Amino acid sequence: MKIILIGYMASGKSLIGNDLAHVLNVKFIDLDHYIENKEGKTIQKIFSEKGEIFFRKIENKYLNDILNSESSLVLSLGGGTPCFSNNLEIIKGCFKSKSIYLNVSVHELSKRLIVEKENRPLVKYVQTEEDMLEFVGKHLFERLPYYNQVDIIINGNNSKEEIIEEIL
Ligand code: S3P
Repeated sequence: MKIILIGYMASGKSLIGNDLAHVLNVKFIDLDHYIENKEGKTIQKIFSEKGEIFFRKIENKYLNDILNSESSLVLSLGGGTPCFSNNLEIIKGCFKSKSIYLNVSVHELSKRLIVEKENRPLVKYVQTEEDMLEFVGKHLFERLPYYNQVDIIINGNNSKEEIIEEIL
């Protein structure tokens, strides 16, 4: 079984994915970390040197590679992954898999992102909490039509333990 975790930036995909994989005793892959390892550069550097279009191309390639080579894993995607290329199609068509959207409120995401924005090129230059709230509100609204196509939607505002319990 492949579990694919989807959600906005700072929704807890990596943290929960890592712990969930541990509980299930399966491999954990974080797509952003996988890309960073393969490319030998941070996401931030890939964006600044080669741009977002290049990033979306390799994100699509590595997503394909991972889903074609692993039979059992927990995979955490980047916040934008389901919204680009044919990624959502790949995710929905993936054999023996469940996609899960961690649904966290705009308020909570903004609070987290204002302190975790440095390695996130899309929000790096947002200065105030108020601006972050406005940006995330609009951006998440654009992405919801993609996120909402998953198999299971989980309330990501709950504690890590509650979220894992609910997924299990
Ligand atoms: C992005 C989210 C990031 C990373 C890149 C783009 C996005 O991943 O893939 O900066 O488009 O939302 P996280 O969701 O892990 O921050």
